[in-house]
Amino acid sequence: MKFDVKNIREDFPILKKQINGKQLIYFDNAATSQTPTCVINSISDYYNNYNSNIHRGVHSLSEEATEAYEKARGKIQIHFNAKHKEEIIFTSGTTHSINIVSNGFLNLIGEGDEIIVSGLEHHSNIVPWQMMCKKTNSKLKVIPLDKNGELDLKEFKNLVSKKTKLVFLNHVSNALGIINPIEEIIQISHSYNALVLIDGAQSAAHFKIDLQKLNVDFFTASAHKLCGPTGVGFLYGKKELLEKIEPFMGGGEMISDVTFEKTTYAEIPHKFEAGTPNISGVIAFGVALDYMNSLGFENIRQYEDKLLKYATEKLKEIDGLIIYGDVKNKTSVISFNISGTHSYDIGSILDKYGVAVRTGQHCAQPIMDHFDIPGTVRVSLSFINTFEEIDILQEAIIKAKSMLS
Ligand code: ALA
Repeated sequence: MKFDVKNIREDFPILKKQINGKQLIYFDNAATSQTPTCVINSISDYYNNYNSNIHRGVHSLSEEATEAYEKARGKIQIHFNAKHKEEIIFTSGTTHSINIVSNGFLNLIGEGDEIIVSGLEHHSNIVPWQMMCKKTNSKLKVIPLDKNGELDLKEFKNLVSKKTKLVFLNHVSNALGIINPIEEIIQISHSYNALVLIDGAQSAAHFKIDLQKLNVDFFTASAHKLCGPTGVGFLYGKKELLEKIEPFMGGGEMISDVTFEKTTYAEIPHKFEAGTPNISGVIAFGVALDYMNSLGFENIRQYEDKLLKYATEKLKEIDGLIIYGDVKNKTSVISFNISGTHSYDIGSILDKYGVAVRTGQHCAQPIMDHFDIPGTVRVSLSFINTFEEIDILQEAIIKAKSMLS
């Protein structure tokens, strides 16, 4: 199939928008991806035609909504190749998913236990573990980065031991786009009986993930990075682990039996889905995955790799531009600074040319500290971007640079 970006862009109404009198050029896809019409329509279809609460009504609307919600769970199971449908827990997103796991292990971890986190993490995969360590008197260890920003695997092998209970890292760094060697880390961790959680927030939009092949214990991603709506995501966990850990939130829907003396929990996945979920969001998440699969993840990957290569070359032509994490194993992100300027000023000027980028620490302060910088300008690409947009970006950066010098 020919990957026709011009046609694909027609599916995204927002791409017609003007910003400051210029055509929008959206290079903030790692923060949130744009939304195709089919996903937007699925949300209005839900509210127009079958808005109702799920799992609780005998009436037709509730049954229709429940069926659509559970169908979306099945789509996510199949796409990510989980063994059981109930291993997919709907959450509000990656941060919520990580907090389910960190709270779930509170009574399974104690003094003398160690947990390992990578140095390449978003704050959402640091702070919950610090909170957990504080509550359990366990120790947090960090896999250091080498000078290019890649994880130092030799150091990881020194850190991991029989004391290690859990290992957490992202698949792709949101700040630098570096792809971590998760297969190797999972294998080494398992050889010490340590469990692994992979934060797939930045990878799931770029590659097809096979959870059974990875043999990962927990995995999480957010719909809004996968052409879906905000406020919804999922946590995958191996069935026996999800059955073992305590739920994070109590409330309706997650119970089997409630008396004032004692409550027993529902089976998974419901044990972790207290309260009314984001029903339309979950259904739209399923539609977004269908949409991306119709384009083909292999096609997306190949196209984005070409875009990344082209954009990296174009940006390197600019004098004084320094790229952080400029390594072979990366995807879709270019994080840079221009000497003598502040990332915020570059980002603000780019906005005047209609170009949307993210600036600052990208919720990953330890990575910025590693490079001894306050922040970067982050260009994050996706299959909706074009080579012409990259040319315009290059010109806009050159103009911004001359305005600031
Ligand atoms: N985690 C998102 C980002 O990297 C918000 O921009």
